[in-house]
Amino acid sequence: ATITIIGVPLDLGAGRRGVDMGPSAIRYAGLSRRLAELGYQVIDYGNLVTPMVETIPLPPPDARLRYLEPITEVCERLADQVAKVVRQGITPLILGGDHSLTIGSASGSARGRRLGLLWIDAHADFNDEHTTPSGNIHGMPLAVLTGRGHPRLTGLAGRVPAFDPAHVALVAVRDLDPLEREALRASPISVFTMHDIDRRGMAAVMEQALTVVTTAPDGFHLSFDLDVVDPRTAPGVGTPVSGGISRREAHLAMELIAERGALQSLDVVEVNPILDERNATAELAVELVLSALGKRIL
Ligand code: ARG
Ligand code: MN
Ligand code: MN
Ligand code: MN
Repeated sequence: ATITIIGVPLDLGAGRRGVDMGPSAIRYAGLSRRLAELGYQVIDYGNLVTPMVETIPLPPPDARLRYLEPITEVCERLADQVAKVVRQGITPLILGGDHSLTIGSASGSARGRRLGLLWIDAHADFNDEHTTPSGNIHGMPLAVLTGRGHPRLTGLAGRVPAFDPAHVALVAVRDLDPLEREALRASPISVFTMHDIDRRGMAAVMEQALTVVTTAPDGFHLSFDLDVVDPRTAPGVGTPVSGGISRREAHLAMELIAERGALQSLDVVEVNPILDERNATAELAVELVLSALGKRIL
């Protein structure tokens, strides 16, 4: 099988600089070589061109959709590229970059087919311009992909919503903004919080989440935000939240994803090398990608 790697050095959606270096850090951790050792043919497309924050005007301090235009433009190009890779029967692996890029990656993968969406994240990223406390678009992609958000962003799959919320599962969430929480409670998205994982275990939660996302006819997209892992294990992320999943739980989740055999495309986002400790978070990202793509101990 073939994997195409697409780097997206985007940080305009985040409040903090540094995640633009994520794709380099993940490649430096040996991604291509390890995928090749696992038996994949690897094509590295390189990075998309993304504007640097220093080269564009600063949004007003009260902006509710910071950097909407440049983020939309990057996500349009990413969606086109991902859709092209998918049409060739190849699995795209997208490296971030802040989580706003998933508006492009997941939309592109969903063009012309009905996918489920598995969102593994400390956050729900379910804000819109009315509920956001920050104006940062990386807090909005799950809302956009299920049809709520700025019309420049919601239509990138060629239909709205890109994903039927009945085919979406959110796993290991533990940090919600007040209005985001209300929106999520009112939505048909299947939400599995840290409480559910503590109580029932990662295996049971993942089996149920995978059943939700594989109800869609054509497989599913995985969006993995490294901040879901506890910051003691994954310190190099843009928005750390204590009380996250362990390394073992993250691995188990990825192994269960591989076992289902329905993964169509994936992104790993929010790796921030500036805050990392000797690239440990990027190395973890590589290990988790390998597990999601079929690596087994025995
Ligand atoms: N909920 C907060 C916001 O809307 C934080 C979002 C963090 N998102 C992320 N992809 N790290 O700004
Ligand atoms: Mn997050
Ligand atoms: Mn259905
Ligand atoms: Mn996120």
